[in-house]
Amino acid sequence: MARPDRPIALVTDGSRGIGAATSLRLASAGFRVAVNYFSNRSAADEVVARIEADGGSAFALRGDVRDEQQAARMIEQAAVDGRLDVLVCNAAAAAFTPTPVSALSWSDFRTKVTDELAGAYILAQRALALMEKQGQGNIVFVSSTAADGPPSHGMTAHGTAKAALNTFARFLACEAGPLGVRVNVVAPGFVRTEASAHMPQAVQQQLADRAPLGRVAEADDVARAITMLVGDDARFVTGAVVPIDGGTSVSRM
Ligand SMILES: NC(=O)c1ccc[n+]([C@@H]2O[C@H](COP(=O)([O-])OP(=O)(O)OC[C@H]3O[C@@H](n4cnc5c(N)ncnc54)[C@H](OP(=O)(O)O)[C@@H]3O)[C@@H](O)[C@H]2O)c1
Repeated sequence: MARPDRPIALVTDGSRGIGAATSLRLASAGFRVAVNYFSNRSAADEVVARIEADGGSAFALRGDVRDEQQAARMIEQAAVDGRLDVLVCNAAAAAFTPTPVSALSWSDFRTKVTDELAGAYILAQRALALMEKQGQGNIVFVSSTAADGPPSHGMTAHGTAKAALNTFARFLACEAGPLGVRVNVVAPGFVRTEASAHMPQAVQQQLADRAPLGRVAEADDVARAITMLVGDDARFVTGAVVPIDGGTSVSRM
């Protein structure tokens, strides 16, 4: 079977925030990008149009990453000639409202954790099956420093879900390595996106002051790290959880 002229990347929630920046970066790096969206088709079309205007190649792909059938279909539709080179599991599949354990029902906690893992597990399992046949591929999960950082109030469900994601990625890296597939995690601290825009400016400034690099992250900071991890410069890196936080996590040690 002829090799498609560009390697293929699927970015979940590739139409907004960190995912949109990642779609743009991967397209610049030469990938044909499947830009997943959930409800906002026009945001995905806009990212595709920006990529095409820059001479790149992309297409929009609707799907709910938590749904087994939809996730499987997304992998099939993203893979050109049955080939998928990169999967970026970025979608914030689980709604997130900071709530202390005392006020958080078991049902809401379970939904948060299982939605986060469903969005990663189904796609990664299907992608790995294709990548195994190719003998190469890259999977990157977008986690959070909330997984390993000092526990902050109301973040139990989010931190637990992201910690489970990190652990899943490490196990998967061990299973996937012998197949030629690398699996890594980026763990951003606070990133300025629409989803985080509610954070008061004063708090954003405190976070910037606490970071050794003196600012909070932009979506493109995360996208650059993802692009580096899926490229040859990181060819001997797998099972890594890379904080993208301007040094905040080490400065707390
Ligand atoms: N922003 C931060 O400060 C920060 C920090 C650490 C980690 N992260 C992680 O980075 C990732 C991206 O965050 P972001 O801030 O850039 O979010 P975002 O893209 O600005 O917003 C969330 C988007 O996720 C999409 N989505 C929701 N449910 C989905 C589903 N079931 N399937 C597919 N897509 C779905 C929605 O797309 P539609 O608009 O199409 O409905 C929604 O607009 C998340 O995993 C998040 O946990 C973010």
